[in-house]
Amino acid sequence: MKSHQNHASQLSSTLKVTAQLAVALTITSVNQYAIATGDAMAGDPAAGKALFNSLGCASCHAIGPGARAGFGPQLNGVIGRVAGSTVDYQSRYSAAMKKSGIVWSEQTLTKFINSPNDLVPGTNMRFWGLSNETKLANLLAYLKTFPANPK
Ligand code: HEC
Repeated sequence: MKSHQNHASQLSSTLKVTAQLAVALTITSVNQYAIATGDAMAGDPAAGKALFNSLGCASCHAIGPGARAGFGPQLNGVIGRVAGSTVDYQSRYSAAMKKSGIVWSEQTLTKFINSPNDLVPGTNMRFWGLSNETKLANLLAYLKTFPANPK
């Protein structure tokens, strides 16, 4: 009976370890998938808002209810938007931006913010670029909170 119990508890701890390993493997493969495909990892919109201000996006771009063109185009609903398409900024977009043919997605925005002039050679946006993956994900999470016409 004693050896039976030992066997059972050994078996249950083996199962526990196996289950933990499976969870760990799943987490690793999800992260690797995100890195391999360039999908942004889930970011934190509040941290993204702070970055939008501290990185200077906010001094050139308006976002939120009633946002209009400023030094740069307004950014409401930017994910899914065709580049160079906001109505009140038409006369000021660079030719490069207008003819880029880009549709802003997590991938294209990540590349643009990382290095504007590499994705859109000749763009008017002067920004040194942000390469930190976590910060990029947070910034995108913040941008995503605004639909095309936020109330
Ligand atoms: C110094 C001012 C300035 C800063 C800082 C700046 N931008 Fe821009 N941004 C611009 C200008 C000007 C354009 C228009 C570029 C063009 O027409 O080539 C632009 C374009 C864009 C576009 C394309 C919009 C469209 O309608 O196609 C996005 C998206 C964008 N900026 C996001 C950001 C984000 C996010 C940040 C902060 C990380 C940022 N920008 C920082 C000035 C700025």
